[in-house]
Amino acid sequence: MPARRALRLAPSLLSADFADLAGAIRAAEAGGADAFHLDVMDGHFVPNLSFGPALVRAVRARTKLPLDLHLMIDEPLRYLEAFHRAGGDTLVFHVEARSDPAEVLRAGQRLGVAVGAAVRPETPVDRVLRLADRLDQVLVMSVHPGFSGQAFLPEALPKLAEARRHLATLGREVDLSIDGGITPETAGPAAEAGATFFVCGNSVFAGGPVPENLRRLRTAVEAGAARAVR
Ligand code: DX5
Ligand code: ZN
Repeated sequence: MPARRALRLAPSLLSADFADLAGAIRAAEAGGADAFHLDVMDGHFVPNLSFGPALVRAVRARTKLPLDLHLMIDEPLRYLEAFHRAGGDTLVFHVEARSDPAEVLRAGQRLGVAVGAAVRPETPVDRVLRLADRLDQVLVMSVHPGFSGQAFLPEALPKLAEARRHLATLGREVDLSIDGGITPETAGPAAEAGATFFVCGNSVFAGGPVPENLRRLRTAVEAGAARAVR
C-alpha cells in the first residue's frame, strides 16, 4: 500500500468575520486547522479586492500555523517580497498573471520562501505541472477565483488526478492544493483524486461551530484518501 501522505486543512480567512479575525483563528486552531489560507485580490486579476501585506502581518502575529498566501494579483513579482516580509510561508501565484512564472520562481528562491503556482478552472493543469519540479505547491482552483461560497466545479477532479500522476514522478513532496467549494461532500472526491491540501472557506466559517465543521471536513478527507490508496 502506498505511504499515506499528510492531509492538511487550511481554513480560508476570506470567509471569516474580518472584524474578529483573532476569534476566527482561535476557533480554527481549536478545530485542528493545519494552516491558514489568505486570499489576496487586486481588483484586476479578479474582480474583487481583499487585503494586502498589513493584514497578513496582523494575522502572523496571532498564529504560529503556516500562512498560505493565494496571490490573485496581476503582478506577483512586484509584491512577492512584501508578502514574504509580512509573514507568508507559502506564496502561491497564478500562472495566468502578467508576471513571468519563471521569474516569480527565481524571486521566491532568492527570498528563500516556499512558492506555489495556481491554475484557474479554464487553464490546463499542464501550465503549472511544467514548473512543478521547482514548486512547493500546485493549486487547482475548483471555482472561478474572486469570491468564497461558490459551488465546486467537478472539472477540477481530472486535473487533480493528472497532477497527482505527474507529481508522483518527481521524487519529492509537492503539496497538491484544491481551492473552492470544498465541503464534506466535495472534500472526499478531491482527496480521492489526489489532493493533499484543502482550502475551506464557507464550509468552515459560514455557519455552525468552527471546530465541528473542521472535524467533519477531516473525516471526509480521510475517507476519500483511504479510497485512493485501497
Ligand atoms: C476564491 C478563493 C478561495 C475562497 C474559498 O477566490 O481563492 O480561497 O476563499 O472559499 P469557499 O471554500 O467558500 O469556496
Ligand atoms: Zn484561495
